[in-house]
Amino acid sequence: MKNKKIPLFKVFTDKKKALSIVSQVLDSGFLNEGIYVNKLSQKIKNFLNIRNIVLMNSCTSALTIAMKLSGLKPGKNIVTTPVTCIASNTPIKNLGGKLKWADVDTETGMLSQETIKKVIDKNTVAVLIVNWSGIVPDLKKIYEFCTKKKVKLIIDGAHSFSAKLNKKDISYYSDFTCLSFQAIKHFTCGDGGALICKNNNDHNKAEKLKWFGFDRKQAKDEKGNWIQQQRNIDIESNLIGYKFNMNNISAAIGLSNIGHIRKILKKHIENANTYKKQFTKSKHIKFIKEVKNSSSVYWYYTIILSSKKLRNDLEKYLLKKNIDCGQVHIPNDVYSCFKSSEINLPGVRFFSEHQLSLPCGWWISKKEIENIAKTIIGFTKSFK
Ligand SMILES: Cc1ncc(COP(=O)(O)O)c(C=O)c1O
Repeated sequence: MKNKKIPLFKVFTDKKKALSIVSQVLDSGFLNEGIYVNKLSQKIKNFLNIRNIVLMNSCTSALTIAMKLSGLKPGKNIVTTPVTCIASNTPIKNLGGKLKWADVDTETGMLSQETIKKVIDKNTVAVLIVNWSGIVPDLKKIYEFCTKKKVKLIIDGAHSFSAKLNKKDISYYSDFTCLSFQAIKHFTCGDGGALICKNNNDHNKAEKLKWFGFDRKQAKDEKGNWIQQQRNIDIESNLIGYKFNMNNISAAIGLSNIGHIRKILKKHIENANTYKKQFTKSKHIKFIKEVKNSSSVYWYYTIILSSKKLRNDLEKYLLKKNIDCGQVHIPNDVYSCFKSSEINLPGVRFFSEHQLSLPCGWWISKKEIENIAKTIIGFTKSFK
């Protein structure tokens, strides 16, 4: 008999609570942005210990606004990584900008100050760094470098909700941090995202850009719901914006989950530590190098195998054993829409051919993680 399948991703829901809050939203008659979005915004600010946040309908939307606020337009570029979801890089093209690939460090799968330095040029407005699998790269060093070069640092934190460096939320080390609350993330609203801006002026602009470029703060009823008619709207200082705001239904799902987030994150971290303990002596397996004083959140757990053949064979073996695993994202530089002949990316090729991402989430027990690790170690030992 085959073992029960262990998925790489799973959606967390508290159905009873979600139904109760969604039902309140439906009864209120305010389905779009309103008090439930405000409540969730406050709870996330408290949880992350940050000053401001703009909730949106996705991380992709947050990235788009972050890039626009960084000054991306035709003729300008963003230094970015191919080791990510297409969502990270699509907004660059949609805003008419240019992608400037930088290579990744083979020990982390992420950009480093050294790889960024090689490609940054006079038309670069921002660097986009992706925290692969929820691991924190050397953000302090990279942020200091970007600040010196007068370019913005945007963190794509879709995998890294509440990750920390030096006990501070990652957003402390960036101009813009974008979060994803899409279905399978640590914290979900069904779909949703957020933008955290370093600077108040950017935050105020982001508030407007997420709703057609207008500030709707003045156009609310006494409870904080947006009124239907567009009264009191400041027509003097509007921008050209988007329809990217979060709505009360998504916020209700988020509110039903937020009370569980501490234990969800704790389990991901404990499971990652169990893998580390098991793999520590293996000569075939390396794990991603982590920065001192960082707290990563391991959405999944990535290992780097000693050869491409071992990675490919191990992946097939685990899938046969009903243990879901894979590369998670195809390196973006191979997609025809992103292709560029400008640069060789040996680090990207190495990482994408040697990495295997394993399930690590709240739905897996310590015993199951130990069994997965034993299965992997057994396979690598017999590998010729
Ligand atoms: C690295 C990364 N960035 C951005 C996104 C897009 O997030 P969203 O679906 O919230 O737009 C994802 C989605 O998984 C992702 O993995």
